[in-house]
Parts: sequence; structure tokens; C-alpha cells
Amino acid sequence: MSEAKANAARSVLKLLPREGAIGLGSGSTVALFAEGLGRQVSEGKTKVSVVPTSYQAYRLAVEYKIPLTNLDLNPELLLTVDGADEVDRQLNLTKGGGGALLREKVVAAASRKLAIIIDESKLVDNLGIKFPIPIEVLPFSLGFVRRRIDTMGIASSIRESQGKLGPVITDNGNFIIDLKFPKPISDLAGTSTGLKMIPGVVETGLFVGMANEVHVGTATKSYVLKK
Ligand code: A5P
Repeated sequence: MSEAKANAARSVLKLLPREGAIGLGSGSTVALFAEGLGRQVSEGKTKVSVVPTSYQAYRLAVEYKIPLTNLDLNPELLLTVDGADEVDRQLNLTKGGGGALLREKVVAAASRKLAIIIDESKLVDNLGIKFPIPIEVLPFSLGFVRRRIDTMGIASSIRESQGKLGPVITDNGNFIIDLKFPKPISDLAGTSTGLKMIPGVVETGLFVGMANEVHVGTATKSYVLKK
């Protein structure tokens, strides 16, 4: 599995611009990409700076000595490289397995191009069946949001922390709720918007129509899916 992730991470390195600001996603596949990016920076092959999508990504940039920037200095990014939990045939994504979905979506939206790196096991026919759809929720609104979601016929569970008692607290101080849909979601964009309209829902892990290309790694090679 990690060789498949490494092959996807290697494949996306060829998209790196010579210079400029790019987004650095989160997750274990992005960690492999960050290592390669750090090498290219140290060899002088690229002069990019990165906007990190989480504290994990920030620490990766520090570890691999990749220059940092932010959305105030660079509100428009040339490229973002990120992972995903599931990818469907239209290149819609589920993200947020690592709890970083809010900043990931902001950074993706700020990017001219979103390139996703995954191992082949993440390709699915329908999002939300195997892997739940996470949403980030303001703690104050938790009970109300869960009640609304319940009335929509969707099961929800609060994501519990590992290494600390209690719920996961995101980099933005919020909770994550994982949603289990009773059947395949027919209208992904409408579902994401509908969830976001519930007061207290900060963002959803559905990334609809955002990815431009997906670099898929297998144990021996990689290939690219494009829109
Ligand atoms: C972080 O919240 C996620 O969106 C990750 O990008 C996603 O979970 C992929 O992570 P892995 O590369 O570790 O599978």
C-alpha cells in the first residue's frame, strides 16, 4: 500500500511549477509528496512556497525545509496537491479522514488546479458507501445539527479522539461528525450544499467538481485520471 502511495506521490512531482505558491494537502500520501518536494527545493529544481492545509502539513513543510506562505500573501495558488479518502468516476472526492477538510477545501478553492494523489483502493463507484462523509461542526451547535441530520434519515457519529479522551478537536477548534448515508447519494452537490445550509455546519468533506486530475498509484506504477 505504501509503495502505491509513493508511486502516486512521485507522479505528481512533475506538475510542480518552477516557482510560485502552491497548496500542501494533508495525510500520509501527501507526507510522501512533501518529502519529494523538499528534495526538489533543496536541489534548487523548484522555488515554490506552500500554504499548508493543517498543522500536520505545516510540520511537514518545516521538516523538509519547504518555504511557507499563506492565503493573505497568496490568495490565488497555482496548484494544490492533496490526498483523498474516496474518488468516484467523475473525480468527485470524499476528504476529511484526517480531520483537515475545512482548510483543505479553502485551499483547494483558492487553487487554479487541484491534483489528488491516492492508491488505487480509493477508487469507488459511489461516494459515502464504504467510507462515511465527514462534516466539521461548531461544538455549540452539535445537538441541533445531529437532530437535523437525523430527520434527513442519515446516521451520524461523533469522531472520537485517539490519544486523548473525548471528541476529535479540529485545527479550527471544531468537532467532526461522520455521516453514514442509507443509500448512494444521487445529488452530491445538492447534498453538500444542503448540509452546509444547516446552521453550525462549517464544511463538508464532499469535494464536488473540484479535482482536475487524480494520480493513482499501484504497487508497480502510476496513472493519471483527468476530467
Ligand atoms: C485529511 O483530512 C484527508 O482529507 C486526507 O487528505 C485523506 O484522508 C487522505 O489521507 P491518506 O493519504 O493518509 O490516505
